[in-house]
Amino acid sequence: MKTLVIGGTGTVGSQVVANLVAKKAKVRVMTSSADKVNAMPGGAEGVVGNLTDKGSLAGAFNGIERACVITALSENETEQGLNAVAAAKGAGVRRFVYMSIHRLEDIPEAPHFASKVPIEKAIRESGMAYTIIRPNNFYQNDYWFQQPILEYGVYAQPIGNKGVSRVDVRDIGEALTNALLDDGHEGKTYNLVGPGVCTADKTAQLYGKALGKDVVYAGDDLEQWGAAAVKMMPQWLVDDLKLMYRSFQTKGFEAKPGHLEETVNILGKNPRSFNAFVDEVTSQWKSAKKGGVKV
Ligand SMILES: NC(=O)c1ccc[n+]([C@@H]2O[C@H](COP(=O)([O-])OP(=O)(O)OC[C@H]3O[C@@H](n4cnc5c(N)ncnc54)[C@H](OP(=O)(O)O)[C@@H]3O)[C@@H](O)[C@H]2O)c1
Repeated sequence: MKTLVIGGTGTVGSQVVANLVAKKAKVRVMTSSADKVNAMPGGAEGVVGNLTDKGSLAGAFNGIERACVITALSENETEQGLNAVAAAKGAGVRRFVYMSIHRLEDIPEAPHFASKVPIEKAIRESGMAYTIIRPNNFYQNDYWFQQPILEYGVYAQPIGNKGVSRVDVRDIGEALTNALLDDGHEGKTYNLVGPGVCTADKTAQLYGKALGKDVVYAGDDLEQWGAAAVKMMPQWLVDDLKLMYRSFQTKGFEAKPGHLEETVNILGKNPRSFNAFVDEVTSQWKSAKKGGVKV
C-alpha cells in the first residue's frame, strides 16, 4: 500500500512524510521541483509533478492507494485542489486526506479560505473515503517574525487581541498521519486547535519572558504590516492575508465548542501548548546566539 503526499516538501507535509517514513509506510512525495526529487527523506520515493498539470498528476497517482493533499497558497488554489481530487478518483485512491483551514466558512472574504470551499465539496462528493483536517494558525508562523523579536523586541504577526486558537505544525502532521494510517476517521472533518487562546499582547509577553527582555506587540496597523510583508511575498498574498488578519483582529479566531475535543480525538492525546513552543524555540534562538547570532 503506497501513500502519495502532495505538499510533502513543505512545512506541514514534511512532518507527514517523516512520520510515515518512521512508521515504515511506503511513501511517494510529489514535488514541482526537479532539484528536490532525488533528496527525499529516508526511503521515500520522489516524483516530479505539478497540481496545475493533469498529466503529471495521473503519473504521480499511479499505483497509489492513499493520498495526503496539501494545497499551497496560490492564486489558483481551487483549480489545483480540484485537479488533485479528480486525479485521485481516476486512480482509484481509497483514502483521501486533505489539509484545509480552521473555520473555513467564517472568513469568506480571504481568498485562501474561499478557495478551499469547492475543494472540500468535491472531496465529499467524490465517493472516495476521505478525512479533512482544518488547522488554526500555525505556531511555527512565528519563525517568520524571529528577526523583529530578537533585534527590536517587537512581535509583528498582526493577530490582534481578540484571541486565536493557534496550533503546532507537529500536531497537524500527526493528525494527517493518523487519518492516513488509522481506521475510523473516514467521512470525518476535524478542526485542529491548540489548548489555549493566543493574543498578540500575551504572545509578546511570553517571548519577552523567555528571552529575558522587553517584547511588545507591533500593533494592528495592517498597512504598516503589508508594506513590510510585500518585500517577502507577492501583493496578492499580502492582500489575502490582510483580510484574514483584519478578521482575527475584529472577531478573533478561536476554537468553537467541540473543536478541542476533535483535536484530541484525531491526535489521541492533548495538543502541544503555545507556552511549550515558545520555550522550545527561544532555547533554540539562545543556542544559536552562542554560535554567533545576536539574540
Ligand atoms: N500558515 C498557517 O497558519 C496555516 C493555517 C491553516 C492552514 N494553512 C494552509 O496551509 C497550506 C500551506 O501548507 P504549508 O504551509 O505546509 O505549505 P508550504 O510550506 O508553503 O509548502 C507548499 C508545498 O506545496 C508544494 N507546491 C507548491 N506549489 C505546487 C504546485 N503547483 N504543484 C505541486 N506542489 C506544489 C510545494 O512543493 P515543491 O516546492 O517541492 O514543489 C510544497 O511542498 C495552505 O493551503 C494554507 O492555507 C496555513
